[in-house]
Amino acid sequence: MARLVDLKEALTCLQQGKLVAFPTETVYGLGADASNRDAVAKLYLAKGRPPDHPIIVHVASPKKESIDLETDWLEILSPWWRDIPDLALRLIFTFWPGPLTLVLEKSKTALDALTGGQKTLALRAPSHPLAQELLRAFGGGIAGPSANRFGRVSPTSAMDVLNEFPNQDGIAVLDGGNCAFGIESTIIDLSDSSAIRLLRPGSITPEMIKKKTGIDVRKAVEGETLTRVSGSLKAHYAPHTPLTLYAEHTLPDLLKTNSLKKIALLIWNQPPLIELQNKHHTFIQIPMDSNGFARNLYRYLRDLDHGQYDLILMPETPSGQNWDGVRDRLQRAAFGSGAASD
Ligand code: TXA
Ligand code: MG
Repeated sequence: MARLVDLKEALTCLQQGKLVAFPTETVYGLGADASNRDAVAKLYLAKGRPPDHPIIVHVASPKKESIDLETDWLEILSPWWRDIPDLALRLIFTFWPGPLTLVLEKSKTALDALTGGQKTLALRAPSHPLAQELLRAFGGGIAGPSANRFGRVSPTSAMDVLNEFPNQDGIAVLDGGNCAFGIESTIIDLSDSSAIRLLRPGSITPEMIKKKTGIDVRKAVEGETLTRVSGSLKAHYAPHTPLTLYAEHTLPDLLKTNSLKKIALLIWNQPPLIELQNKHHTFIQIPMDSNGFARNLYRYLRDLDHGQYDLILMPETPSGQNWDGVRDRLQRAAFGSGAASD
């Protein structure tokens, strides 16, 4: 089984080319020294991830007392990216450290194994204090896909990671508590400055980016990009138990047709109607608040997946960009649920 370690041992493991799962504010990452080819190869193997899916490299942010932030950032970023446009710096000054990943053309020195053979490389500076402490002590970049097996639900606690890798002794886990955001970072592709594209929705929305920086980000149209984004597969983040998303008005019929099934039913903040109650069905009230829901989404999926249910029913999400990240994960989770896709 993977095992818990403290910061000092996590650091040693990274330096020795071993895998270290580490907390971030979004989800736990499975980390490896991004400059070590063998260590990066271990990541793909442990996750069961196809070799052409690129990986995000995590970097430390400059110290708070920095006197020249721009120079400090350029020094941190230049080993990884060929050019760093002003646009990128504007986003970095505003949102880093935090749940935003930026994609730009890779430097010559960054390993091809990180980019799945593509010309671009994804970078992010996580805001979780323990992740920052680890990154600063390490000094280099940490390659970090989410610490789950390919196609499955991302872990949001150290225990989730331990459960995800029951047979892998080689994985060390640094415990940083529960993740504050709960869904993976927003990914923005800046490699074509005339068309800045959102590759994966997350807690930082295009509306927030526009408001804070004036930068227009548009959604990538399917098929528009050759970039392989594993989170863009139709089936992803998937529980083993079948998951169905319901529209409010279909609920009474849905419950009637499934009256003999053991169902976990998630409902917004309202008491279940008495006439809908059934001894096979468990009602779970959830907050109608996009951040609160995102924080607990994978927790629900993981816990309910272990609850021996025949079916999980979750409500469709309200409209609005603040729900886009949750909606995206839920739709893919529902699509991939049930069948063993890994
Ligand atoms: O919040 C997060 O981003 C978490 C934490 C651990 O930082 N990481 C994460 O990594 O979600 P992963 O590997 O599970 O998802 C990263 C996504 C993948 O869908 C990958 O295809 C995409 O980022 N990606 C990585 N490099 C890319 C690139 N050069 N161009 C486009 N997409 C890229
Ligand atoms: Mg992932």
